[in-house]
Amino acid sequence: MHLVIGASGQVGGALLLELERRKLICLGTYHNHKAPVGNFEKLDLSHAEDVAALVARTRPLYIYVPASYTNVDGCEDDPDKSFAVNVRGVQAIAAAAHQHRAKLIYFSSDYVFDGTSGPYDELAPVSPISVYGRHKVEAEQAAMKETEDAALIVRTTVVFGPEWQQKNFVLRLIKQLSEGREVPVPDDQIGTPTFNRDLAHSTVELALGDQTGIFNVAGEDLCSRYELAMAVAETFELDEELIIPVQTEMLAQKAKRPLKAGLKVDKVKEVLARNARVTGFREALEELHREIDELESAGGED
Ligand SMILES: NC(=O)c1ccc[n+]([C@@H]2O[C@H](COP(=O)([O-])OP(=O)(O)OC[C@H]3O[C@@H](n4cnc5c(N)ncnc54)[C@H](OP(=O)(O)O)[C@@H]3O)[C@@H](O)[C@H]2O)c1
Repeated sequence: MHLVIGASGQVGGALLLELERRKLICLGTYHNHKAPVGNFEKLDLSHAEDVAALVARTRPLYIYVPASYTNVDGCEDDPDKSFAVNVRGVQAIAAAAHQHRAKLIYFSSDYVFDGTSGPYDELAPVSPISVYGRHKVEAEQAAMKETEDAALIVRTTVVFGPEWQQKNFVLRLIKQLSEGREVPVPDDQIGTPTFNRDLAHSTVELALGDQTGIFNVAGEDLCSRYELAMAVAETFELDEELIIPVQTEMLAQKAKRPLKAGLKVDKVKEVLARNARVTGFREALEELHREIDELESAGGED
């Protein structure tokens, strides 16, 4: 059985779909947002005894942990909450995984870097500049320590694609532009946008292949957030003039953002070879567009 902790989120939702597509038995957890379909249980990662009890009762062979308190500015405001969920919670699930001989797959981020020299490979030294980034580093270390280095750490970045909560950058942008709203978008944040379908596919491949250690799983193209936004407008035929390029510092966000970030994907491409999926963002946007069109036309026939 494949257990996905945080399956109500964007990455966890894509993972559940990928596992179901492969006809693997799976169970997802949610915290505050129960997804409309799927096999779900409620779990708060910050309650270590509940985490241990769930693993003891369900005895999964694989435990994926995309669950995280992902509000980067919220983590800056409330480091204790961030630590309880993002570090202690991961430590609890890693300990339970090790005790029951389950494979642990933990999701991390390019926010473990300071963003001065991206894109980064797996060997680059970490240098977090926010509470969230620091806690992702501590969680990676806890996952490896508790599992005696048997865990798989999947680092990813700027994830987008189909998502039932529709809250990722690309889906929110499509909505805002469709409503004719101006959207300020930083042109100094560089990254490697990642299609959530690819992320789920490559993660499951790595997990089933019993890979361990850190793997970057991201898109191949380096671009600024502004370039990504312009590509969204172009693909979905929306008004590009509503996208206003700004400097990150103008957004006055609480937590610092790594600016020159992104992740190199040579390792995952080499290890997975023909099974790797690292679609560039333009191609991924086309795929997303096709999927949304198909859903809309299927909905229209009802
Ligand atoms: N999205 C990105 O662009 C991106 C970029 C880099 C790295 N990542 C990493 O990828 C992972 C998944 O990201 P995502 O985009 O899927 O995040 P997300 O959509 O915000 O989902 C977070 C998940 O964690 C769950 N969760 C939050 N607090 C919890 C708690 N106390 N106990 C148990 N579950 C809790 C949420 O449950 P409810 O919704 O039900 O409350 C949700 O299922 C994270 O580790 C993140 O660091 C994401």
